[in-house]
Amino acid sequence: MKVLILDTAEAAISRAAGIIAQTITQKPRAVLGLATGGTMLPLYARLCQLHAEGLRFAGVTSFNLDEYVGLGADHPCSYHRYMRAALFDHIDIDRARAHLPKGDARDVHCEAIRYEGRIAEAGGIDLQLLGLGSNGHIGFNEPTSSLGSRTRVKTLTESTRQANRIYFEREADVPRFAITMGVATILEARACLLLATGPAKAQAVAAMVEGALSAICPASALQQHPATTVVLDRAAARDLRLGAYYEHVHPEGQDRVLA
Ligand code: F6R
Repeated sequence: MKVLILDTAEAAISRAAGIIAQTITQKPRAVLGLATGGTMLPLYARLCQLHAEGLRFAGVTSFNLDEYVGLGADHPCSYHRYMRAALFDHIDIDRARAHLPKGDARDVHCEAIRYEGRIAEAGGIDLQLLGLGSNGHIGFNEPTSSLGSRTRVKTLTESTRQANRIYFEREADVPRFAITMGVATILEARACLLLATGPAKAQAVAAMVEGALSAICPASALQQHPATTVVLDRAAARDLRLGAYYEHVHPEGQDRVLA
């Protein structure tokens, strides 16, 4: 795991955006895995800005990690809507190649299998963007998700429902289930980029990077991935025991040239 610690959330967002920009500059037909949530909003705003400055998404294919079961693409709280508002409406991505699971599919279990198949048909994911739940989830792989799991329907924990309560009018409206890529699906991406900012993520970051490899913290599965970059601000890095070492290896979050 490459752990990059930046002074501020703004600097972490800019670093993560730079990694995405570099991926699609080097490979204009890259397949990106995308995430949603509050952490990603300033990152997508930065990507929109980079697009205004010339970064092209026209050849990119994307697959989002998850969608709530029961919400159609036009539901105001769906991740389909989130992605349009935060990113897709502002860049030149071909909408036909911007995929999310269909939360309102008649058979959501079949939809999960279909979605997994679409990722394979696209040749797999080049760079999977990830946020981190304060309970250690990635995608909606809640604690004790199998580390060998594939795209499927997961029951959300109460803590995840509470974290997402702010986006819904009433508590009862917060969905109880989501279709999510599995942990093994995520691990098949050729590279992963996890962005976490703020003190609320500090414990989960420490468990992910330095804790035991365990289904109780699904993000710890990234320890087994050969090309994962974790981008943090100082607040999210607070509980890391080897923080000084990571900063020595990657001063100011940069790649160090051997010398
Ligand atoms: C959603 C997703 C989740 C979020 C995580 C953090 O697509 O993948 O794993 O990344 O719940 O959400 P925020 O950023 O809102 O704290």
